[in-house]
Amino acid sequence: MRGGLSAVLALAGVALGVSACGQQTTGRPAQAARQQAALDRATVSPTPAPPPVDCMRTKCVALTFDDGPGEYTGELLDDLRDAGAPATFFMLGQNVEGNEAVVRRMVEEGHEVANHSWSHPQLTGLSSSAVRSQVQRTNKAIEAASGVRPAMFRPPYGATDRRVGRAVGMPQIMWSVDSLDWQHHSVSKNVRVGTREPRTGGIVLYHDIHEASVDAIPRVLSGLERRGFTFVTVSQLFRGQKLKSGHQYLEAERPKPKPKPKTATPSPSGPSGDPSGAPDGTPSDASSGASPDMP
Ligand code: NI
Repeated sequence: MRGGLSAVLALAGVALGVSACGQQTTGRPAQAARQQAALDRATVSPTPAPPPVDCMRTKCVALTFDDGPGEYTGELLDDLRDAGAPATFFMLGQNVEGNEAVVRRMVEEGHEVANHSWSHPQLTGLSSSAVRSQVQRTNKAIEAASGVRPAMFRPPYGATDRRVGRAVGMPQIMWSVDSLDWQHHSVSKNVRVGTREPRTGGIVLYHDIHEASVDAIPRVLSGLERRGFTFVTVSQLFRGQKLKSGHQYLEAERPKPKPKPKTATPSPSGPSGDPSGAPDGTPSDASSGASPDMP
């Protein structure tokens, strides 16, 4: 694929060069070559990389899916693709086996692959070496399937402590909104919680092994979109922050706006000049035309 593309582009480059040097060129060959090259790019390249989202200035939310991949994961990926919404998958190593194509598809479609242990034990009851084995085996399986080594870990049942954190050796991503989907198996509850509860910087927990969770996602996506949210992966949510190995993260917090300097210099990453310091519903929310965030 890659070799073919560069060959086509190289040919297009030659065609352009020739016509540029021709004495009586009408511009047609060059134009045709450009069109052909654009066409080839469009057909060859997978999903175009979206521009990086700055969650310090954007109303971001991270949807996360645990315990898969499973029989409904493909359908979920279709829904996420249709909505253009990246998500994060905390997978069990034992479920990666046999589902390598789905894991590869996650990466190809812009999702984040992450680690949720090999077999979902309560890690606080395991020896440190057993914890390390759960984590490392799963990282290897995900990397072998997708080419990407996970950078985030979520402990099964959210059960962890300092010793487990040290043995895990990766940032531990918890959640700020729990759908409790595994308990109620209700599409409407999943829709209600996932649409109403997230705040800016929130991390929402679902399980893609449950049909009622996957069935709820199209309405969750449209509901959150109506509230002005941008969907991001967990890594995108924390972009620019150095996450510490073994530490636990429930959601991303925006830094409080610093006091305004006297000589205002526009900065791409600095606060956008709102003195109110509201942690949610920031100026960028308002200027993006998003509807106000209902509690
Ligand atoms: Ni789990």
